[in-house]
Amino acid sequence: MRIERARGTRDFLPEEMRKRRIMEERMRAIAERWGYEEIRTPTFERAELFTLKSGQEILKEMYEFADKSGRHLALRPEITASVIRMYLNELKMAPKPTKWYYFGNCFRYEEPQKGRFREFWQFGTEIIGSDSPEAQAELIALAFAMLTALDVQAELHVGHVGLIRELLRAATPLNEEQHAIVMRLIDKGERAAVIELMEDVGVEQSLIDDLLYLIELKGEDTLQEARDRGVIAAKSAALSELQALLELLAVYRVAYTLNLGIARGLDYYTGMVFEIYEVGGKLGAQNQVCGGGSYRLAKLFGGEDIPSTGFAFGFDRLAEIFERAEGDVRQGGVVVVPIGDKNVDRAITSAAIEMASRLREYVPTHIDLMNRSLKAQLKYANARNDLFAVMIGANELQAGVVTLRDLVTGSQEQLSVDACVEHLRARFESRLNDKNST
Ligand code: HAM
Repeated sequence: MRIERARGTRDFLPEEMRKRRIMEERMRAIAERWGYEEIRTPTFERAELFTLKSGQEILKEMYEFADKSGRHLALRPEITASVIRMYLNELKMAPKPTKWYYFGNCFRYEEPQKGRFREFWQFGTEIIGSDSPEAQAELIALAFAMLTALDVQAELHVGHVGLIRELLRAATPLNEEQHAIVMRLIDKGERAAVIELMEDVGVEQSLIDDLLYLIELKGEDTLQEARDRGVIAAKSAALSELQALLELLAVYRVAYTLNLGIARGLDYYTGMVFEIYEVGGKLGAQNQVCGGGSYRLAKLFGGEDIPSTGFAFGFDRLAEIFERAEGDVRQGGVVVVPIGDKNVDRAITSAAIEMASRLREYVPTHIDLMNRSLKAQLKYANARNDLFAVMIGANELQAGVVTLRDLVTGSQEQLSVDACVEHLRARFESRLNDKNST
């Protein structure tokens, strides 16, 4: 019986993993240089961690289950809630702000399509203790530093849910729960449903019009226009915060599009929100590679009200773009080939294993595991793109040497064991340096 993968999951072959590792290392190095430290939280959590803010509805979009003791658990659909839980459990006395990053898999019960999976990876950062425009600008600039390192062309859209919320609060018949529903509908671009809901609960037509006008605003000059029309209050705290952020983004030289229609799918955002979209057209409909913003979750989890700001990259979407930008060829290594019948001559086998062990301190090294002939071993090495073969037979053993064959040129020479190890170490070290400097 052939067993298929679970729907929405993927297998990653070595070539894909090599590429992902390169990406991850680049992103990690940047996060560290910007002063963020890596953390890791559990893959599953108490389901209430996610339902506390979003209500039971969110369960439909999660993998949730009862464990053998009847605890209600869920595979994490994202990592921010876990990070704040962990912060409150472990570190709430730490000097603020705390700057963390993480890389981990997340699970969402969604309809799989190109760029949308049921298991996917996020690379994210959180600043716990600040949602100032300075913190917001630093995070957005950090996200762009990572995109530059991955050679991904992308476009930033910045909004502020505070502006939408200020308006919704003025729409008196709506309660908090309905605010959340409206935000989700805005996030999904379901304009007609927004109108219907507001009409149903008796919101004044002028307020509905104001909301529709606000969420369609794009471009910086429209902020003033919205203020003039009274859609944004003259003393709006959200507006001054947003303006301060936009000034700082200019200092960081990050180009942006103001887009007040960004509401974000998650309920915890309280201030600035942003999304980054790939612009090369490689991702199709699912072109949002990053999302984030300012939020308050700590109070909900029993802590004090700690302002925070963060973002998460959809790592798989970046990987899809990176793949096309960078073809990574597997680097071959060395094969140690014992010549002769291993069962007859144990000394040759021992010498080959010892040689392989020494080389493995420096170089990717293979040794036959299938009891194959010399010819078959070299053929396999060729298929693997190995660059050198170190051959050890009765003659070499007697003379205290090994035969080093360059598998690319076919030339070969006899060297002492030490000289051979040194030669290969130097060869691979220089290759590694070349690779790192590109
Ligand atoms: P999010 O926008 O829900 O935000 O997810 C972040 C990114 O994960 C998205 O921009 C997208 O690239 C990727 N993503 C989401 N769902 C899928 C999926 N089914 N398949 C592949 N990729 C996906 C968050 O999760 C927030 N926790 C971000 C954040 C951190 N906000 C504050 N701090």
